Amino acid sequence: MAGRKFLVTGALPYSNGRLHVGHIAGAYLPSDIYVRYLRAVGDDVRYICGSDDNGVAALKSAREEGISVEELTAKYNRSQQESFRGLGIRFDIYGGTHQPDFVEMHTKISQGFFLRIHEKGYFTKRATKQLYDAKVGQFLPDRFVKGTCPVCASTNAFGDQCEDCGRHMDALDLIDPLSTMSDSTPEVRETTHWFLRLDKLQGELAEWLRSKQDAEECGAHWRPIVLNQSLGRIDAEGLPERAMTRDMSWGVPVPLEDPDAAGKVLYVWFDAPIGYVSFTAVDCERRGEGWEAYKEYWMNPERKIVHFIGEDNIVFHAITFPAMLAATHDSGSTTGEAGEHQLPHNVVSNSFLNIKSAGKDEEKISKSRGTAIWIEDYLKTFDPDPLRYYLTAIAPEQQRTAFDVDDYVKRNNTELIAALGNFINRAMTFTHKYFDGKVPAPGARQEIDDAQLEACRSAADTTAELLERCHFKAALLEVMELARSGNVYFDTTAPFRTRKTDMDACGRAVNVCVQTVRTMTTIMAPFLPFAAQKCLAMLRLDEEALKWASATEELAADHALAPAEILFKKLDPDEVFSD
Ligand code: MF3
Ligand code: ZN
Repeated sequence: MAGRKFLVTGALPYSNGRLHVGHIAGAYLPSDIYVRYLRAVGDDVRYICGSDDNGVAALKSAREEGISVEELTAKYNRSQQESFRGLGIRFDIYGGTHQPDFVEMHTKISQGFFLRIHEKGYFTKRATKQLYDAKVGQFLPDRFVKGTCPVCASTNAFGDQCEDCGRHMDALDLIDPLSTMSDSTPEVRETTHWFLRLDKLQGELAEWLRSKQDAEECGAHWRPIVLNQSLGRIDAEGLPERAMTRDMSWGVPVPLEDPDAAGKVLYVWFDAPIGYVSFTAVDCERRGEGWEAYKEYWMNPERKIVHFIGEDNIVFHAITFPAMLAATHDSGSTTGEAGEHQLPHNVVSNSFLNIKSAGKDEEKISKSRGTAIWIEDYLKTFDPDPLRYYLTAIAPEQQRTAFDVDDYVKRNNTELIAALGNFINRAMTFTHKYFDGKVPAPGARQEIDDAQLEACRSAADTTAELLERCHFKAALLEVMELARSGNVYFDTTAPFRTRKTDMDACGRAVNVCVQTVRTMTTIMAPFLPFAAQKCLAMLRLDEEALKWASATEELAADHALAPAEILFKKLDPDEVFSD
């Protein structure tokens, strides 16, 4: 397994807001766990993220906050970086599609993509009708038109999608459209755009996606939600051409001499995924490899590209971006030769996370309704590991799940503390109290001791297998299972009793407990990196001990331990942290 090459991305958050628990549960925590695991098994990984700065959402927020769009996106880019850092989510680089240090590279690479696709004949230029807000003097992006859904009659429909029936929308089909920029009724005007010929690529893409259904064989493990949504879209509606340009000034200018291209930028969903590529290039440049070394990451068939996203990003990552990549190929097929863009090895998506607060029904996380738990606020009072733990334990891997504040407190106290923290603490303090802080000799092991050591080996193997398949929740259960078996072993062998009657038996049991802590340290590290660091310190081991292959290497007798530390704090159920 070791020595594989990966490029892992986390969906670029819009830089018009702060991060909340839903963002973290969706894409960033799972990808961070995955990357930490891959590094532990010895794979070569680059982990890329940054903010999605372009598009009208940022313009609208800047106007609302009364600052320039540059200031706005810089402010939230910074806030996002702090939240990620505080949670131990460690990207190799955190860029931003319009941040001063990135915008030049991003423009160059995005325009290069556009021109290549243009040259390959995958764009059609044509005039189209679009809604125009005369009050603001601007064409309206789909997201900024609200109205009634022609399919389900919901009034919660936007120009891109109906929030209730989930239908992909054409803004012109909305009944009683209203501009959310000015609350006025928009008019229909004509404008020219460049449309990506998704229809020409549809057959290829469907075949490529179908090949992923046989996931085991491909060595990728595509989740049903991703394949169902993307293949479902192709089967139900086919792939119509989509405009990849917009009438705006904030974004990446359309790189054509054509007078019709004046005053237009690339569609934000065209340039945003290219952010993954341009940030990789900046990362390469900063490492002294030269920016063009990004090709080693994006054009190398040996490297597996894995995107982590939320469910609202599925179609863009499983259809649109792959289509853009395929459209740059000489052959126009989904298979890129060496030196051409590679399509993703896997697209890993979670569902949304809802929120449940005391005395209320489960609801969507919403900024405007004040139901979001912001990471910045959380980190003012709480530690990162318990949140990482809880968000993985309830991960919306198959369907929506809810963050329940009471449940968070309860699981912290009964699982993290009572099972995991307690076991490690018992093992460590006991060694200090009765064995002078040194690992006792293993002695003549009995069946129960071998069984516990076997549990360690099997936990390490099973956790790895599950992480390979991106089953993060199940993998964490496996780690917790080992903690529970440790507690059962401790209770059964009862060193607290044998210390008075049979010091050999006592030492034998404590030895196995410490070995169990040793294994737990490595296999919990992807999930609970801060606790794992404390364990390393207690065991007096260095980072090398986080290598997966070393998880079951036994500590020698007499190995000296450092003083025991408390891993997790008990939480008071009355503490609340929502706004
Ligand atoms: N900003 C988008 C969102 O938050 C995600 C963009 S992902 C990218 O939904 F690939 F386009 F960058
Ligand atoms: Zn609808």
